[in-house]
Amino acid sequence: MRIIEKVKEMQVWSDAARRAGRRIAFVPTMGTLHDGHLALVRAAKKLGERVVVSIFVNPAQFAPDEDFAAYPRDFARDRALLENENVDALFYPSAAEVYPDGCQTHIDVERLAPLLEGEFRPGHFRGVATVVAKLFNMVRPHTAVFGEKDYQQLQVIRRMTKDLNFDIEIVGHPTVRDADGLALSSRNAYLSARERQAAPSLFRALKRAEALVAQGERCAGRVAAAARAEIEGEPLAEIEYLRICDPETLAEIPRIEHAALLALAVRVGPARLIDNAMLKT
Ligand code: PAF
Repeated sequence: MRIIEKVKEMQVWSDAARRAGRRIAFVPTMGTLHDGHLALVRAAKKLGERVVVSIFVNPAQFAPDEDFAAYPRDFARDRALLENENVDALFYPSAAEVYPDGCQTHIDVERLAPLLEGEFRPGHFRGVATVVAKLFNMVRPHTAVFGEKDYQQLQVIRRMTKDLNFDIEIVGHPTVRDADGLALSSRNAYLSARERQAAPSLFRALKRAEALVAQGERCAGRVAAAARAEIEGEPLAEIEYLRICDPETLAEIPRIEHAALLALAVRVGPARLIDNAMLKT
């Protein structure tokens, strides 16, 4: 596995692979890899002959009061995991390499970004969209894989890719969960043993909503209330938002006529957990 720290070297590597007719599949990450990331890497292997994974904890997507400094980092472990997956190149740039003179140009996905996560993390998707566009120009992939756990992020990136004419196929990958349903996340490392026991209440809420919709309930308010009650039964869990939305626009909807997205963010101790489910009629 080639480890690349410089943008120029990444572009030269990528251009050589393209000239050799290789399809490049890209998995951008912030490291501290878990089985969810490894599932994205395995999906990428099926999509291209060359797989590039980036590890970059992007300061621009964290607000000053968020967990940028505390965000878990373990490069040696990540590198070994990626070597084991036979990844071709690991792109590991420094912040100075990605933002050499700061950054005066940003990408605002105007209507999707301020909703849901954006309401509670203003500026977050501006940081995500900007760094992903920069990474696309550095890695020059044919295709890129993102987890559906961050459903809104996936939609923001799809929209940005389309709006800016990136010739890159964006692929979403289903959420990988622990046996009790908790979606894998690097932030699960913040949970104490007791908090970890409280965390599957998010998954129970999603399942309760799915069951109600399967039984014929179409009122979004009633479905949301039932899902909310699952989480409120858990004293350590505090809901930040729980919404039923149009899967494309992410606008809240009163009735579930076709598919609807149930998206939620919940604080459990020091961890802010997000999850979602597609409710299908
Ligand atoms: O999902 C993530 O890990 C990050 O938001 C991403 C896409 C790597 C951009 O920094």
